[in-house]
Amino acid sequence: MKYGLAIVVVGGLLFGPQMAGAARADLEAGKQQAKVVCAPCHGPVGISLVRNYPNLAGQKEKYIAEQLEAYRAGTRVSEKLMPPIALQLTDQDIKNLAKYFSSLSGCGDECSVKDQ
Ligand code: HEC
Repeated sequence: MKYGLAIVVVGGLLFGPQMAGAARADLEAGKQQAKVVCAPCHGPVGISLVRNYPNLAGQKEKYIAEQLEAYRAGTRVSEKLMPPIALQLTDQDIKNLAKYFSSLSGCGDECSVKDQ
């Protein structure tokens, strides 16, 4: 009985926060993660820094999420860098990131990165 309770408590600590937030995308969390993990390649405002890397700003939320899931599952094959990155994303991360990148306008005053 004691052990049973301990498992429930530990399980709650491990999975509680993720499950609690799983239903909704968190744009702010997506922004923070994007800044650290995605910006070096896809740019600080979702406009890629490299000529043959894709822009993500303004892309459809569902499309972004599906691509990340496909890289993670190995059904979208790439010799470039996305599969190992996607493998580290949780379902919640994917929702957050898709929400964030789709919310960006793509161009505007912030859009100073030109095709090199
Ligand atoms: C080291 C560079 C690099 C990093 C970091 C990176 N990406 Fe990518 N990403 C790429 C490249 C290159 C491609 C296009 C080629 C391919 O399929 O891998 C791509 C493709 C994508 C695509 C598919 C775009 C399309 O038009 O189909 C999505 C979505 C994406 N990345 C999201 C992300 C997100 C979200 C992050 C951060 C968690 C991230 N990427 C981090 C290099 C990177």
